[in-house]
Amino acid sequence: MTWHDRVVPSVKTPRLTLRPFTLDDTDALFDLMSRPEVARWSGRGVPMVDRQEAVERIERMPVRRGDHPAADVFAVVPHDVEAPVGMAVLVPVPSSEGFDRDDHEIGWHLHPDVWGRGYATEAAKALVERAFTAGIPELYAVTNPDNVRSQAVCARLGMTDLGLRHDWYDRELRAFRLDRP
Ligand SMILES: CC(C)(COP(=O)(O)OP(=O)(O)OC[C@H]1O[C@@H](n2cnc3c(N)ncnc32)[C@H](O)[C@@H]1OP(=O)(O)O)[C@@H](O)C(=O)NCCC(=O)NCCS
Repeated sequence: MTWHDRVVPSVKTPRLTLRPFTLDDTDALFDLMSRPEVARWSGRGVPMVDRQEAVERIERMPVRRGDHPAADVFAVVPHDVEAPVGMAVLVPVPSSEGFDRDDHEIGWHLHPDVWGRGYATEAAKALVERAFTAGIPELYAVTNPDNVRSQAVCARLGMTDLGLRHDWYDRELRAFRLDRP
């Protein structure tokens, strides 16, 4: 066993636990991703309309997390509640066609009821530490150019603004990078 194999599956912060999703989180994930104000910034930008989509999303997470032992799709669970209020990711970011990159991204989606509490930044800081401790040399965040709330999280993390880039997801996105100290 290498030390990588011992990366623990969950992360604790002062207010949050980040842990892998299970199918018991289906309703919470559906509630999150069926909201237009959340879904508009994710993937195709289309809200979920059927609970089964959340089941399938959770079932795909082991593929989405990729091979790095520190990476995962994490449910964000405040210590005072049972169900997740969001999702935070440390995952491989797909290169655009014609780009041969091998990068990891961090990302965040929170239920609107808990925006404005600092949870996204708190979760992301923990994933940054997890990634750098596990040897990932640099992290990216890729945002819709209009997503100022998400770009504000990147700024709070001290990420470098790379401007508009086409390197990932076959789209023009405003990208941010953080290098391991
Ligand atoms: C992007 C998103 C996660 C940002 O959430 P957020 O709550 O605004 O971000 P943070 O966790 O960094 O919280 C910062 C805010 O909490 C406030 N705050 C309150 N208590 C705080 C505390 N104890 N610690 C830190 N900040 C606190 C900050 O002052 C700041 O407020 P402001 O927005 O008025 O400046 C959220 O808007 C979201 O889920 N959007 C939809 C999905 C999305 O866009 N995902 C990103 C795709 S790239």
